[in-house]
Amino acid sequence: MPLHNESPARFLASTDRAVVTRAYHDDRPLLARQRLYDHQRPRYDLPGMVLDQVGDREGVWLDVGCGNGKYLHRIRAERPQARAVGLDLSTTMLTTPVRPAVCADAARLPVHTGSVQVVLGMHMLYHLADPDQALAGMARVLEPEGVLVVSTNARSDKAELDGWWARAAADVLGTAVGPRRVKLSASFPAEEAADRVATHFAEVKEIDLDGTIEVDTPAPILKHYASYRAWSHQVHVPFEQTLSRVEHLLRQELEDGPLRITTHQKMVIAHHSRPTQTLAEGSGG
Ligand SMILES: C[S@@+](CC[C@H](N)C(=O)[O-])C[C@H]1O[C@@H](n2cnc3c(N)ncnc32)[C@H](O)[C@@H]1O
Repeated sequence: MPLHNESPARFLASTDRAVVTRAYHDDRPLLARQRLYDHQRPRYDLPGMVLDQVGDREGVWLDVGCGNGKYLHRIRAERPQARAVGLDLSTTMLTTPVRPAVCADAARLPVHTGSVQVVLGMHMLYHLADPDQALAGMARVLEPEGVLVVSTNARSDKAELDGWWARAAADVLGTAVGPRRVKLSASFPAEEAADRVATHFAEVKEIDLDGTIEVDTPAPILKHYASYRAWSHQVHVPFEQTLSRVEHLLRQELEDGPLRITTHQKMVIAHHSRPTQTLAEGSGG
């Protein structure tokens, strides 16, 4: 059983379509991850930041990998002049509150070239087998003056979760060091995001979203770990047993004070896509 020398390829499994579809069959796992941020300081109003960055543009705002509609709801409420359209691979994500929405693969956007004014790809590019090809597709569908906003986590994001999981996994396996947990964003980490966006867009800027999550009960953290159950076959340790062991460790840690998790994410904004002749050659869909 491979334990500690994971190859980078192992992380690419977060892009396995069958697993991604299962992971987002309903929005409870996603909600568990989103709710951990209720305990973050500073609090970042990500939908509000997107609205500030994009302004009051009219036309189509395409939210690729829209999930449970965290961004769509705000766009519809605060930018009534825009036509906010969601797109997601998971049919079950696209429940009534998210509609109108399209069930499609971000790797092959079923959208006319240059027909969209704003594209969002929030915390989703790391699920694509080829995030750079997906970015090319986003550049293709954007009008030349359009705006792209994407977000993702850094390699060092929530490092404390990595540590607790590895300790619990080591205890379960009876080894000195345990295997790492699955990190979804590993194939499109925040440290690389701006450079990779700049391959397809100009005037790229990034905003750091650093913070600290502090909780005085293990529950929100355990729910966060449990939300990775769809990837449990990749963690090389019995998943439920490790969850129980993590709970035990967290309760011990709590005797010394609240549990703290440091967060490192980035939002990347690109204001102009590349010249028209490049758009025409786009391979995105
Ligand atoms: C982590 S969630 C992010 C949801 C939302 N953007 C947010 O930030 O709250 C990732 C979403 O991307 C969707 N997704 C994953 N792979 C996709 C693909 N190839 N095409 C379209 N959507 C995809 C998932 O179904 C899920 O809803």
